Amino acid sequence: MSSLTYPKSSQYTDLSTVYAECSGPGGLQLSEFMAEKMGLYAGARLLDIGIERGYQTCFLAKAYGVQVVALDPDDDRDDGLPHIEHLMRNARAWGVESQVLGLKLGVPDTRFAADTFDFVHSTTTLEMVRGLFGANFYQKCLAEIYRILRPGGIFGLGEPMHRDVPIPADLAPIYTKGGGVGPEGWAACFATADETAAVCREVGFEVLEARNAPDAWHWWDEFTRYDPYCQADPEGEPKIIQQDGGRWLTYGYVIAQKPG
Ligand SMILES: C[S@@+](CC[C@H](N)C(=O)[O-])C[C@H]1O[C@@H](n2cnc3c(N)ncnc32)[C@H](O)[C@@H]1O
Repeated sequence: MSSLTYPKSSQYTDLSTVYAECSGPGGLQLSEFMAEKMGLYAGARLLDIGIERGYQTCFLAKAYGVQVVALDPDDDRDDGLPHIEHLMRNARAWGVESQVLGLKLGVPDTRFAADTFDFVHSTTTLEMVRGLFGANFYQKCLAEIYRILRPGGIFGLGEPMHRDVPIPADLAPIYTKGGGVGPEGWAACFATADETAAVCREVGFEVLEARNAPDAWHWWDEFTRYDPYCQADPEGEPKIIQQDGGRWLTYGYVIAQKPG
């Protein structure tokens, strides 16, 4: 059960579509949560990093009136089209085509001038980058985000994280097993909110807030029930997530500001 209300995203009730067009826990509720925490406003320049099919990006453009540049270097797992093509399909469907621009690029090589954006937002993306390429590369991505935000600009980072507790014994062999997210599995991908805030500070940010989201478990649970890849493999990730039950796994966020 959700512990918060989501007035802007609650009208999008078809969760099968939401989870098919996003990728990760939280769907549009996560986007609304992050947008409210960041204080998005109409006309602001937002960079969205790691967008899958861009459904959340389009929601942010529609619900908050922001001008969004969206970055994603990869192609869709199902049809092989660049993610940014799905973004533009969604932008047409949401009626926000004139507010959205997709670029087939990723962090840390964005090529933007310094001080370009009012807001930078990234959800369920950088933890995978950490798992695949390591902590130094993760820090390089945050340094690039810092560089391209304007002074006073806000960075909203949402990630699968873990609580500040040891991995439960029954889950340790599973979470340290390598796979698509890197040689050491989820244990090497996920950090705590405090650890993530510390990396933000290291690259120059002032951290305004760093916590586990109140609805973290609700989002994970929903993900196991509606994500199409979870539905196709109920003995895989959904089983692990349900076995965890929110003991170690959470979803955290950091809201940080580039000093003005
Ligand atoms: C799990 S999806 C998250 C999508 C969405 N933000 C969400 O919260 O559901 C992660 C996305 O990050 C993209 N990605 C991977 N490496 C990236 C990088 N270096 N820079 C930007 N995006 C990246 C992937 O192609 C994928 O679309």
